[in-house]
Amino acid sequence: MRTPGSPIPPPWTDLFAPLVAGAVDDLMVIAQIGQSLDGRIATQSGHSHYINGDEGLDHLHRLRAVVDAVVIGVGTVRSDDPRLTVRRVPGPQPARVIIDPQGRLPPTARVLAADGVRRIVVRAAGVHTPLPPGVETIELRPAAGLLDPAAIVASLAARGLRRILVEGGASTVSRFLAARCLDRMHIIVAPIILGSGAQSFALPPVDRVEQALRPRMRAHILRNDVLFDCDLSHQRVVIGHAKKSM
Ligand SMILES: NC(=O)c1ccc[n+]([C@@H]2O[C@H](COP(=O)([O-])OP(=O)(O)OC[C@H]3O[C@@H](n4cnc5c(N)ncnc54)[C@H](OP(=O)(O)O)[C@@H]3O)[C@@H](O)[C@H]2O)c1
Repeated sequence: MRTPGSPIPPPWTDLFAPLVAGAVDDLMVIAQIGQSLDGRIATQSGHSHYINGDEGLDHLHRLRAVVDAVVIGVGTVRSDDPRLTVRRVPGPQPARVIIDPQGRLPPTARVLAADGVRRIVVRAAGVHTPLPPGVETIELRPAAGLLDPAAIVASLAARGLRRILVEGGASTVSRFLAARCLDRMHIIVAPIILGSGAQSFALPPVDRVEQALRPRMRAHILRNDVLFDCDLSHQRVVIGHAKKSM
């Protein structure tokens, strides 16, 4: 195991060194999506365990272990009831954050289990559905039904959570991407075709191919899966303290 402060051994440097600190400000926000060859993250019934193979899942747990907090939308809690813990690799457990503007989160959800890890629910101001003891809340004012992703990141940073993994699902990741709040995105593509089901992204439409988002990208083979490491720092808005060189 790596001792704290020692250099990251290759080939991990390419992937993990950019996650130590953001390029734009003192925060770092990464999203991950596991998808099929045809860009689906779940079947029509919402089943997604597991699209990726073992190496892809190990990578996801490594990402969890290097961030301060993992963020998911309430839709993923309701369909998957995930634990969001680091189990497949050694490493610390990140805080668990659920975006639940309307109070739809079941209080029995595993992500809220009292296991010594911080649990935070982000909701619209005025929503007071019951939560288990010890769960922190962040209240934000929605605009057109949306909680501003930049305000979510800033609120987490104010609570000491500066490196954030947005783990899903599609609408949560898409909202962070559309709001230009992501420094990086790891898309892990599994060699399966689902043919129908939820798509990875839902973004405002573009008319022409040249208007598409074209991040700088490096691909890595994870045995059968392919990881696309996309650098989105060129379009990331400043949320924290901007780097002096900007
Ligand atoms: N393959 C993968 O990598 C992966 C990862 C995670 C999940 N999944 C799959 O994805 C599916 C769930 O995805 P999903 O897109 O339906 O749900 P989701 O992204 O998990 O949750 C979406 C909901 O979260 C709330 N939300 C998130 N961001 C918000 C914001 N900025 N402002 C206001 N509300 C916000 C809204 O709740 P309200 O509707 O209550 O307003 C929204 O409808 C499941 O089938 C799951 O298995 C796949």
